Amino acid sequence: MQKTKYKMKKENINLDDLNQLINKFGETFYVFDLEQLRANYLNMYSAFKSRFNNIIIGYSYKTNYLPTLIKEISNLGGYAEVVSRIEYDLALKIGVSPKNIIFNGPLKSQDDIALALKEGSIINLDSFYEIEIVKEFALKNNSKNYKVGLRINYDINIEGMSPLQDGFKQSRFGFCVENGNFERAFNELNKIGNVTVVGLHGHCSTHIRSLKVYEKITQTLCDISKGYMADTLEYLDIGGGFYGNVPETMKLKNVPSFEDYATAICSIINKEKVHFKNEPYLILEPGLALVVDTFKFFCKVVDVKVNNNEYFVLVDGSAHNIKPTIFKKNTPMELVKTNKEAYKIDKFNVVGCTCMEKDYLLIDYVSEIPKIGDFLIFNNVGAYTIVLNPPFIKERPPIIAKIENQYKLVRKKEKLDDFINSNVYVF
Ligand SMILES: Cc1ncc(COP(=O)(O)O)c(C=O)c1O
Repeated sequence: MQKTKYKMKKENINLDDLNQLINKFGETFYVFDLEQLRANYLNMYSAFKSRFNNIIIGYSYKTNYLPTLIKEISNLGGYAEVVSRIEYDLALKIGVSPKNIIFNGPLKSQDDIALALKEGSIINLDSFYEIEIVKEFALKNNSKNYKVGLRINYDINIEGMSPLQDGFKQSRFGFCVENGNFERAFNELNKIGNVTVVGLHGHCSTHIRSLKVYEKITQTLCDISKGYMADTLEYLDIGGGFYGNVPETMKLKNVPSFEDYATAICSIINKEKVHFKNEPYLILEPGLALVVDTFKFFCKVVDVKVNNNEYFVLVDGSAHNIKPTIFKKNTPMELVKTNKEAYKIDKFNVVGCTCMEKDYLLIDYVSEIPKIGDFLIFNNVGAYTIVLNPPFIKERPPIIAKIENQYKLVRKKEKLDDFINSNVYVF
């Protein structure tokens, strides 16, 4: 595997900086590194752009929709990939042009679809009920032409095994190619008259994120569009699911770099593009790959106790802050020592402030045992964390953006009225 060009930073925050942050923002917070986000975006974009001219990066909002973060993506030229009306409206709110919004997802209302079609957003349909809505809208507004894309459901098995996340054998999304549903959907849309199918969408959430997955997605999208829409194709959307910057401590093998992904995907598109009347756009929808290493979570050690012979380090934070889906794998952690005495190396657990038995930030971790008053920094917590952190037991912590060595508050610490919002709840 090729070495990545990622800018890697050793955190090693000095105590003076940490103390300043604590004094200003409290003892539990996230730090979002805006420059790391820029580096990730530009590395991905240039890896693909140097191999194929028509590239669109549509950042997957659901991965982390911190306004400062999504605004930066937009400033860098990225599109917004959204999967609900609330995400669509968020993109509009931060000033994204509707034409730079990619509207995906299994659930779209009549109103959502009408808006996306009217505004010229890229919209990928997932089910037959949406085709009925498009039909009704297009017939009512028949003085204009409308464009849609279709998400396809196809055989993604690699060497006879399903690579889908959580071991699912069959994806629930899109129009199935194998049983003829895709063809039926395509024909129904074509019959409308003022609707053209201009794109295919083939996102797959896999646990392996390997080059073979992307070769299969890309080849399948090309093969199907050659057969059905050689003259009308405008884009091939291969979705997200790429690896980002994986720290060595996570001990993952064969992690492709952006260059590796770009080589695999673009070589197929470059070979196949002769079959299309116009050179299509290649759309990528990264989420995790752009943001995972842009967030760190800081929390203070409140207590260290021994139950039987196991160490439990209690912090002012929770598993919900760093892995809300409570997976078992340990995320990379750095210890900031504030004590002068010697530190003993042994196995310990880091546990959170909720009342759940399973609130473990680290399990069976072997390292220097933290002491009361120390700080723990959890790295690589930018993806599917703040968006999934429930309002459970304790308010959500503030987020501080690091922008050119300055620290700026970009999400305040919640108060009771944010936690149980009186605009929403009836008291
Ligand atoms: C349609 C679509 N695009 C993009 C993504 C982003 O995936 P990831 O964060 O793994 O890059 C997802 C995630 O589920 C998705 O469903």
